[in-house]
Amino acid sequence: MKILFVASEAVPFCKTGGLADVAGALPRILHERGHDVRLVLPRYGDIDNNRFRLLPLMPEMKVRYGERTLAGSILRCSYPKSQMPVYFVDEPSLFGRKGLYGNSHGDFPDNDVRFAFFNMATLWLLKGLDWQPDVIHVNDWQTGLIPALLKNHPEIIGDSFYQEIRTVFMLHNLSYQGNFDRYIVPSIGLPWSVFTQDGAEFYDKFSFLKSGIVYSDKLVAVSPTYSREIQTKEYGAGMEGALQQRANDLVGILNGIDVSEWNPETDAMIAKQFTAGSPAGKRACREELVKIGNLDKDSAHPLIGITSRLVDAKGFDLVEKAIDDLLALDAQFFILGTGDQKHEQLLKETAAKHPGRMHVHIGYDVPLSHKVIAGSDLFLMPSRFEPCGLTQMYSMKYGTIPIVRKTGGLSDTVFPATRASIEAGHGTGFLFEEYAADAMVAACREAITLFKQHPKAWSTLMQNAMQQNFSWQRSAEEFEELYRSLE
Ligand code: ADP
Ligand code: GLC
Repeated sequence: MKILFVASEAVPFCKTGGLADVAGALPRILHERGHDVRLVLPRYGDIDNNRFRLLPLMPEMKVRYGERTLAGSILRCSYPKSQMPVYFVDEPSLFGRKGLYGNSHGDFPDNDVRFAFFNMATLWLLKGLDWQPDVIHVNDWQTGLIPALLKNHPEIIGDSFYQEIRTVFMLHNLSYQGNFDRYIVPSIGLPWSVFTQDGAEFYDKFSFLKSGIVYSDKLVAVSPTYSREIQTKEYGAGMEGALQQRANDLVGILNGIDVSEWNPETDAMIAKQFTAGSPAGKRACREELVKIGNLDKDSAHPLIGITSRLVDAKGFDLVEKAIDDLLALDAQFFILGTGDQKHEQLLKETAAKHPGRMHVHIGYDVPLSHKVIAGSDLFLMPSRFEPCGLTQMYSMKYGTIPIVRKTGGLSDTVFPATRASIEAGHGTGFLFEEYAADAMVAACREAITLFKQHPKAWSTLMQNAMQQNFSWQRSAEEFEELYRSLE
């Protein structure tokens, strides 16, 4: 099949979160499985031309936007260590700056123009290449305009080139919606008929997310549980009605993890490699993490790691509410993250008061994130909602036992550990249901007790976790089936 994958971030080019991991892995896996897959990304200022050897492909890419003509170009390269073509939509005044969606002052005020251009240029690019994909796989609000353009833009619906192209909209996170002033509608050449309750109108704004939900041919959420949750008021972020209407076209497919990136056997960023059969190297990883964090050298207490965006949705309001109770536990903490200032500030202050017990590293640091995942005994992820979550899967691969809230992809990937379920080979982690500080602390306490009092059960638990199969191959088959259903 011919598949165009369009995303606003993908490793190793640009990344703010898990979307980049998925957009860097899934298309490449599908490409390896024999499909003609190509990836389109914006050409952000941070992307290094020399490192990735970007070459000019189309020198002029003009897009009308209201009274303006936006003029960009297209660059290309092959995905590193693969033959998969990657196209970059370049327009320096829109993408040449630092940051993907915003900076410390907030979202960029011209994100509507930036991503409208990106979406339109992607469709014009196909014409320029004279390459008609069977499916365009779009991701999150930043690419949600493409389905609306394909079904409503006069120049596109009048052009037989685009007639057979189908779209799949992948939902990674409904809380980012891309809702903008309604005047974007005529500016991008769409008819006002899209600006209705049944269309892309959302509380008097034009919503890129809703546009994707309404006009795509199929919808896929990043985990089965999230696909159900988002049809409820609690998790739907206002889109539940539109999603219920599309229920027959909505499926959940669990993300995989890229084992060429996250594998304790080959990971060059950790102190010592290890495997399920020979886990001794994990001790060296733990020692290194203790050293980096200046933590007390006491391996009788478990080390609880966190690597996360520091935002409420990831459960940091709970962590802060429970901070005294957490610090009263027999455990040490290593927290790596960046995000909301209020969380950064409070965590830093707390760590300063508890040297040896808690270390907080504010920043975005990929090698350190590998060290945290590899060197911790437990990994805490108390998300209020979690579409899929990748770090709990990475942790399990490294024998680091997750403590998670039972929501979204977390409940699809972590199976409750009891003495019996561990013995039976099922249990892989600790879950709590209610989004409450007490419930989280109780789950931590349960994990710590098992760690300290039942070392044999603990090592079986680590084995169970490390042997989980989170590979992309399984999900790739489900995507192939989904694409085929569009024919
Ligand atoms: P989300 O996409 O909601 O942030 P995921 O668990 O899907 O959550 O993915 C998060 C990704 O971002 C993982 O690859 C994780 O390792 C990475 N990450 C998060 N915070 C940091 C950080 N401070 N430094 C390095 N990597 C980080
Ligand atoms: C989003 C979600 C996260 C998911 C990731 C990749 O960032 O918040 O749960 O794992 O996308 O799909």
